[in-house]
Amino acid sequence: MSIHVNEEQKLFHLQTAKTSYIFKILENGGAGQLYYGPRVPVKDAYTNLASREEHDCTNTLTVEQPDFQLELIKQEYAGLGKGDYRYPAYQITYHDGSRTSEFKYMGYRIIDGKERLADLPSSFDDQGDDAQTLDVVFKDEYENIALTLHYTIFDKEDVIVRSATFLNHGNDIMLDRALSLQLDLPDAKYDMVQFSGSWARERHLIRTPLRAGVQSISSLRDASSHQHNPFFMLARPHTDNNHGGAFGFNFIYSGNFLDSVEVDQFDTTRVLVGINPDEFGWKLSDGDSFQTPEAIMTYSADGFNQLSQQLADFYQDHLINPHFARQERPILINNWEATFMDFNEDKLMPIVDEAHKLGIEMFVLDDGWFGHRDDDKSSLGDWFVDEKKFATGIDGFAKKVHDKGMKFGLWFEPEMISIDSKLYEEHPDWMISTPGRQSTPARNQYVLDMSRKEVVDYLFDHISAIIKKTKLDYIKWDMNRNITEMFGAQLPADRQLEFAHRYILGVYQLYARLTAAFPKILFESCASGGGRFDLGMMYYAPQAWCSDDTDAVERIKIQDGTSYGYQQSMWGAHVSAVPNDQVGRLTSIATRAAVAYFGDFGYELDITKLPQAELDEIKDQVVFYKKYRQLFQFGKFYRLENADTANDNVYDWEVVNDDQSEAIVARFQILNGANPAYIRIYFAGLDPEKQYTVNDGDEKFSGAELMNAGYFVPRIMDRTKPEKDPSDFSSRLFVAKEA
Ligand code: DGJ
Repeated sequence: MSIHVNEEQKLFHLQTAKTSYIFKILENGGAGQLYYGPRVPVKDAYTNLASREEHDCTNTLTVEQPDFQLELIKQEYAGLGKGDYRYPAYQITYHDGSRTSEFKYMGYRIIDGKERLADLPSSFDDQGDDAQTLDVVFKDEYENIALTLHYTIFDKEDVIVRSATFLNHGNDIMLDRALSLQLDLPDAKYDMVQFSGSWARERHLIRTPLRAGVQSISSLRDASSHQHNPFFMLARPHTDNNHGGAFGFNFIYSGNFLDSVEVDQFDTTRVLVGINPDEFGWKLSDGDSFQTPEAIMTYSADGFNQLSQQLADFYQDHLINPHFARQERPILINNWEATFMDFNEDKLMPIVDEAHKLGIEMFVLDDGWFGHRDDDKSSLGDWFVDEKKFATGIDGFAKKVHDKGMKFGLWFEPEMISIDSKLYEEHPDWMISTPGRQSTPARNQYVLDMSRKEVVDYLFDHISAIIKKTKLDYIKWDMNRNITEMFGAQLPADRQLEFAHRYILGVYQLYARLTAAFPKILFESCASGGGRFDLGMMYYAPQAWCSDDTDAVERIKIQDGTSYGYQQSMWGAHVSAVPNDQVGRLTSIATRAAVAYFGDFGYELDITKLPQAELDEIKDQVVFYKKYRQLFQFGKFYRLENADTANDNVYDWEVVNDDQSEAIVARFQILNGANPAYIRIYFAGLDPEKQYTVNDGDEKFSGAELMNAGYFVPRIMDRTKPEKDPSDFSSRLFVAKEA
């Protein structure tokens, strides 16, 4: 691991185990990018990479330097106004209304390790053995403003984390745009791979070749959103799961974001990642600073699986709360799809009893336990128990669950308020609204102004009281609508554009206070399923509810897409009832479980209504998952290529443990076909020299054989057990163990 600086050349070379990132200070005092990709040796100068030639029709730095045309130069952190017309990384409006900046290099410092950021979720290096940080400082020529570009290299994981800080020591300025990461690549022969969709259809993979102009994904919902995930990749056209080069980008932030890729007139590519400049502005007076959230980038020369695995390691060691990183997550049962809000203690206790018999470890009480919430029209904000539903209080019910030896979890939706609530009666002004405009309801609810300290204090006090009363083990933190009529009642007119970011800072503050006060509580973030599935949330809540769509077949696509940019312990996955509540599909309980095994496993159905045969199956599933939980939640994840990959009809997923002694492959076949070809499962990530059995069979196979020749499987449809292996929506599991 090392950051190499050639002071004479003003050249910076950031090396991780397998990558190099190189930039240098240019004649204008700004920084120019030279290279990002597979690791190259350190040398004194990279004239070849820095060379350029004069083009017609562009602006030059001075008449003496006709080849210094910013429009042609790859830059580290570009502004606008000096002849580069691509979208910039930052933009400042000065006190006189002018908007041209000239930041010039002042110096640098290197710090071993990586400190956490004060008010934002961030990467860290608590062990102090994997990271090194470089700060490069620039100063504005006209105003007393310092710009610091921060780079942290995480050696083993081949990840570079970037952010920027503006510090003003002069007249008031307005920061109109302050992105976190800019990467200028020398050509445009990439596919953009994004993960987009909608509510209950989150993170479906979309792959499109780059074209001239700007292509972007973004959010203006003040949430990372169901519609577009901040994670995306740029991959060479031939790149697949096992081969080829790809860059991956993600953002440690939960509000409005912009991922922009601009292909310019010379076919170079500019990547920008950061807070969406629309609906953003930040006033900096003398002495004020603004720190952008962190963005991450990584590169894999060996396909998407490698890239996903690098990120997975990075998250576990440098993003997820160390108390929970690699800690096995409990098998839970959640009452939402079992009862919705129609429950009371008498109805719930039989579910708890049955769950206990089946070996399930935690009962999670979802929406509807507080205020007088029998439907979604009331009570958000009233975080005290509905005594009609729980005669002995929420503490009485929690005790009954705990007495069974099970953990107890509760649902909250802290950021919301119902008009029909005590909270609204007392503090109508805490609701976000714009004076004189009608407030737009969504799910009959409204959003609290999380930028106000008294709101965060109220929530902290009330949630803490319930936590203490119930000796809570887990919180599901939901968020079921986005903000409208965005307005900060406490902010002056020239700071209104700060509101969206201030809102998210308030959410982070509440998370930070609760996780500090109750470090053993496992948080699961949720936003109508996957509406805030991002690294900002995961810094505080190590897992997130993946999607409100619990249909096994839909979930295959959602979890498959999610797995490119996230690690399987980061998403909750449950077995629910059939016909499925969202799509009405019938699938076997075996397939529903096989999909949900790849994640934080749980159940979300009324188990008191199931036939004994299914209960027996659940009991076996629980035993099986407990046995392989470490592997499912934390094993290296592979999306295997197979003969049918291109048709979206067959998915093979695999998890492999660190010492390559155990692996599980799941084959999911959506639709069956007549008279099909032979099936071979090609394992990945095994030790070629080791001997393995598959599903405890007698024959031994070398890892080399299982990976290269494949494991032969008879037809998926088992006619002798149609109820277990229906022809469509089938699943098969293959457990390889070192013999
Ligand atoms: C949306 C969540 O995604 C569901 O799991 C459930 O908690 C409901 N909200 C409750 O209102």
